[in-house]
Amino acid sequence: MLRLENVSKNFGGIKAIDNVSFRVPQETILGIIGPNGAGKTTLFNLISGVLKPCKGEIILNGHQITKAPPYLRSRLGLSRTFQNISLYKELSVLENVVIGACTWTRPNLKNLFQFNNLTYKNLLKKAQMLLELLNLSDKANYFPEQLSYGHQRTVEIARSLMGKPKIILLDEPAAGLNNQESENLAQLLLFLKKNLKITLVIIEHDMDVIMNISDQILVLIEGQTLLQGSPQEVQKNPEVIKAYLGAENIFEDIP
Ligand SMILES: Nc1ncnc2c1ncn2[C@@H]1O[C@H](COP(=O)(O)OP(=O)(O)OP(=O)(O)O)[C@@H](O)[C@H]1O
Ligand SMILES: [Mg+2]
Repeated sequence: MLRLENVSKNFGGIKAIDNVSFRVPQETILGIIGPNGAGKTTLFNLISGVLKPCKGEIILNGHQITKAPPYLRSRLGLSRTFQNISLYKELSVLENVVIGACTWTRPNLKNLFQFNNLTYKNLLKKAQMLLELLNLSDKANYFPEQLSYGHQRTVEIARSLMGKPKIILLDEPAAGLNNQESENLAQLLLFLKKNLKITLVIIEHDMDVIMNISDQILVLIEGQTLLQGSPQEVQKNPEVIKAYLGAENIFEDIP
């Protein structure tokens, strides 16, 4: 579904991403971990087209997208959520979800509310169905700020699903969530993979979430891949334990 070949990105003298390659097969979850400043968000900006790589290739579902603009990538089925919640405060939860349809209906936000009645009604119906699927239908008419942090994160995922994605990039979706909310999120992400056949790439500092749902994990340190392997392989790797958080074993509590 997604392939990166020797991708690099420099900011002046900083090698934010340094010769990174990986593959994400369809209907799998790739977890990305690494210390602050390791280059994780930069990697997502390169995949989504916000930034262009200095070197290397990005292939999405067989399409060469290294230089493609973001809107083309989203039309090819790529969607993302952001490290900071990015919902529209002035719009209801339902309207926020409807906006996700922009990727396959009209090319820009300006036209969103110029849909004819029938189209808009159909979009509302689809957005309502998605909220129902994610157990949020009772919040449809709330504004984002009236929702818990966990629910706001779920609305972002609903908005992303409205764009009919084949692959979703999630940047720290569990940040700020309590244990129960993180557990619900993990279940939701597994549901998206199994039932909606969506491929997921997830940056996360929450080790419980990442270890429990990832098929493969990529460890990024100072822009370079330290290791890619199964959650078991990553947890056992002494280099990862040492490089990621010094001597402390961050995986100790994980069942
Ligand atoms: N637009 C930019 N211009 C200049 N430097 C940047 C830019 N974006 C990121 N960087 C630098 O690139 C490096 C990687 O940053 P990035 O945000 O990708 O890290 P991260 O792994 O997502 O960190 P965190 O866990 O804190 O979110 C950092 O040194 C950062 O300061
Ligand atoms: Mg980041």
